[in-house]
Amino acid sequence: MSLHAYRAALFHTLDDPSVSPEAAVYHADGLLVVEDGQVTAFGPHDDLRATLPLDTPVTHFPGHLITPGFIDAHIHFPQTDVMAAWGARLLDWLENHTFPTEQAFVDRAHADSAAAFFLDQLLANGTTSALVFGSVHKTSVEALFEAALARNMRLIGGKVLMDRNAPEGLTDTIERGREDTEALIRAWHGRGRLGYAVTPRFAVTSSPGQLAMAGDIAAAHADILIHTHMSENTEEITRVAQLFPDAGDYLDVYARYGLVGSRSVFAHCVHSDDDALRRLAKAGASVAFCPSSNLMLGSGLFRLKRACACGVNTALASDVGAGASFSMLSMMGEAYKVGQLSGDALDPLHGFYLATLAGARALHIEDRVGNLEPGKEADFLVLDLAATPLLARRTAGVASLAETLFILSILGDDRVVAHTFLAGRLAHSRNGVSGLAQDTAWQPITSPC
Ligand code: GUN
Ligand code: ZN
Repeated sequence: MSLHAYRAALFHTLDDPSVSPEAAVYHADGLLVVEDGQVTAFGPHDDLRATLPLDTPVTHFPGHLITPGFIDAHIHFPQTDVMAAWGARLLDWLENHTFPTEQAFVDRAHADSAAAFFLDQLLANGTTSALVFGSVHKTSVEALFEAALARNMRLIGGKVLMDRNAPEGLTDTIERGREDTEALIRAWHGRGRLGYAVTPRFAVTSSPGQLAMAGDIAAAHADILIHTHMSENTEEITRVAQLFPDAGDYLDVYARYGLVGSRSVFAHCVHSDDDALRRLAKAGASVAFCPSSNLMLGSGLFRLKRACACGVNTALASDVGAGASFSMLSMMGEAYKVGQLSGDALDPLHGFYLATLAGARALHIEDRVGNLEPGKEADFLVLDLAATPLLARRTAGVASLAETLFILSILGDDRVVAHTFLAGRLAHSRNGVSGLAQDTAWQPITSPC
């Protein structure tokens, strides 16, 4: 049995604080108690400390904030090397930047090294769970899952299905896509903390037969996710209407093939109208809001308030490599700026919810992660409020949690993430100790109870 307590300011959400303000829970001097990888208590230090055995090790982080790990609701593992592409919009970005880069993932050694880099970036940025696109190659997803299993991350991924409108080396077929997807589900779904998502790239690159096959697989496995893109860019939408002339709209394309349900996550939905958003809400599906990507590709301004008013669960996502940062703190900042352009400034507590519990809800892992309620897996972050001279100066004397979080989201990034813990074990430290060796190498400053 391992029992350890962590003392710092604590913050998490029990629900959407823009709907229920009391769902934002903050303790200025808090204690997080972790036993065998799970949270056993989260509350005020002075109340909880007396309940612990006298020899409980307590690590104190003055000037730090402990939060749940971030959850990235949509990201592409093979796209690290297309980040920061200049001047492209979605369809030409795919053709000229992304598809050539994804071709390299046919090589297992390349996929292995890219997976290690990608996951270490997630951990360095405080992202402890993610919903991840692989490439079309089965081995790319094997590389990703193997690396995530070794790090004990709660991660959901899938092999891209793409049987048309893409270069030859990047397409599969209906049968090949089915065989590879079924084999990956058998080998990886439910192993460690991993899960599988059936991943048709988008309606442009899958034939009707392939979308139907994806729907069949989803129907046969009640607990896997469906993960795709929708209504990101106006040229894409026109293309989909040409390819599926009988469909009522873009969402209807997916609905016709059984791909719209409570376990579906649709990235973007920038141009989805109220009717589509309400149908998504009715189905219990989720939207991944990708502010950095939408700005980088000039796709448009996602109207978060409208999506919330339509009742659809919306989570935050980096969409690396169209997105320009792995940092979910930066995504909160970008989401705020998108809101400003639409006349709806995002409240920092709401932004934080989007990057944690809303993501867990979208990924159907909210019974395990997303906040630090007792019984949850202890995926948590130690955030340094004075990580840079500017942050130290700007956060000094700030009394309000909302303002502190806002400053972190605008001025912060991976430098703010001092430590990342996965299921109670240290997985990353900003001090540079390498990811997997840290558990034994790290010597916390502990004080006896
Ligand atoms: N739509 C289809 N594929 C992609 C992709 O890789 N990235 C983004 N942002 N949109 C897409
Ligand atoms: Zn994407």
